Amino acid sequence: MVYIGAKGKEELIELFASHVSSGKAQFYQMVDLNFVLGKREGPWMWDVSGNQRLLNCHCNGGVFNLGHRHPEILKVMKETLNELDIGNHHLMSEQRAILGEKLAEKTPPEITRTVFGVGGGEAVDFAIKLARGHTKKHKIIHATSAYHGHTGLALAAGDDHFKAPFEPLAPGFVDVPFGDADAVAAAIDSETAAVIFETIPATLGMPIPSNDFYPKVREICDEKGVLLILDEIQTGLGRTGKLWCFEHYDIVPDIFTIGKGLSGGIFPITATCYREDLDYFMNEHPFIHISTFGGAEVGCPVAAKVLDITSKQSFLEHVNQISDSLSMKLEGIREAYSDVLLEIRRKGLFMGLKMSDVGYGPLMSIASYNCGVFAVYADNDRSVLQFLPPLIIREDEVQYIDDSMRKAYAYAKERPDYLELARNLAA
Ligand SMILES: Cc1ncc(COP(=O)(O)O)c(C=O)c1O
Repeated sequence: MVYIGAKGKEELIELFASHVSSGKAQFYQMVDLNFVLGKREGPWMWDVSGNQRLLNCHCNGGVFNLGHRHPEILKVMKETLNELDIGNHHLMSEQRAILGEKLAEKTPPEITRTVFGVGGGEAVDFAIKLARGHTKKHKIIHATSAYHGHTGLALAAGDDHFKAPFEPLAPGFVDVPFGDADAVAAAIDSETAAVIFETIPATLGMPIPSNDFYPKVREICDEKGVLLILDEIQTGLGRTGKLWCFEHYDIVPDIFTIGKGLSGGIFPITATCYREDLDYFMNEHPFIHISTFGGAEVGCPVAAKVLDITSKQSFLEHVNQISDSLSMKLEGIREAYSDVLLEIRRKGLFMGLKMSDVGYGPLMSIASYNCGVFAVYADNDRSVLQFLPPLIIREDEVQYIDDSMRKAYAYAKERPDYLELARNLAA
């Protein structure tokens, strides 16, 4: 059976437009990005026609942290299929028990408990449910223009433009500017259950918080009896050069979410991990949060393998070393194009290229696509190109990125007409 290239590309685009998303098909046609994903291996993706190859510097926000089709992940997945299936979400489970224990080993000692999910939004929803259930309060403080997914409570904690058509959403969500601990303190009142942040918000363009931001927020939450939830769905699993991004700030959240990369790019699974002392709530209400496919058994050993790989010291050292050499190259490009590229934001390989105009994010997405790199602008700050290469890239691929991005900036500078179009996209 052939799965890639069984139909011609034009026919596939027509089928996609007719039966999946006419709007997406039209959008990609408009911006000349007619890429249909075909073969994929390691850091690379090919168009279904086989004619175009891209180095994946988006990685679906971390799903492909280990690159595409990592051999060790594929091996575990194939092995689990010899014995397991989804399992039964009502029953006790050997696979979920073993993965839960592994997560407790790989997270700070206070964090011992996990509820599994399928998607990141679901993991965030459960984090907020647990905070509300435990505190018996309803108010949730989140960053302005945050992104935590498109399910009910996660959506309510996000940017307005995704919410407007679906109002009224759950009440009690209050936004504050990201990185401002005083604003957090001022927003908390006697009805506040939790503060939720993505440790570094990707969709806001990777603004790196000051070193004292999280220690202050932790202190404020402790003083006021409010829970701190961190969303590590993009920043977790070694992306920032530590296993968990909050380690950079020397704090421990009460609840945190893991998704995307936990799948190994092969089997969807997410986790909401939380402190032992919050567990009495789930103990009293063991069936209050149900997910039929959450922590499906065939996926648990895959997630365990991801944790083993990404927590190795040598793996994290590699991430930091590649981050240093890639950022040196990108700084070279910044010097050459200093009127466009203002700043390289980074923690490990969690990178954002901050530019001088909101049109440049979309324009550089197109330019880099045309020059062999796939990267996507930050939706809630379109002056930033999110830059998330696979964590397994080597020096020769860093050189490829450097060559391609130099070409992409030259291309962008030559297309003021595209900049205007991209500005309109941003509007
Ligand atoms: C930080 C963050 N949280 C939550 C989500 C939602 O994850 P999912 O799309 O798996 O529901 C995303 C997805 O992009 C994300 O980036």
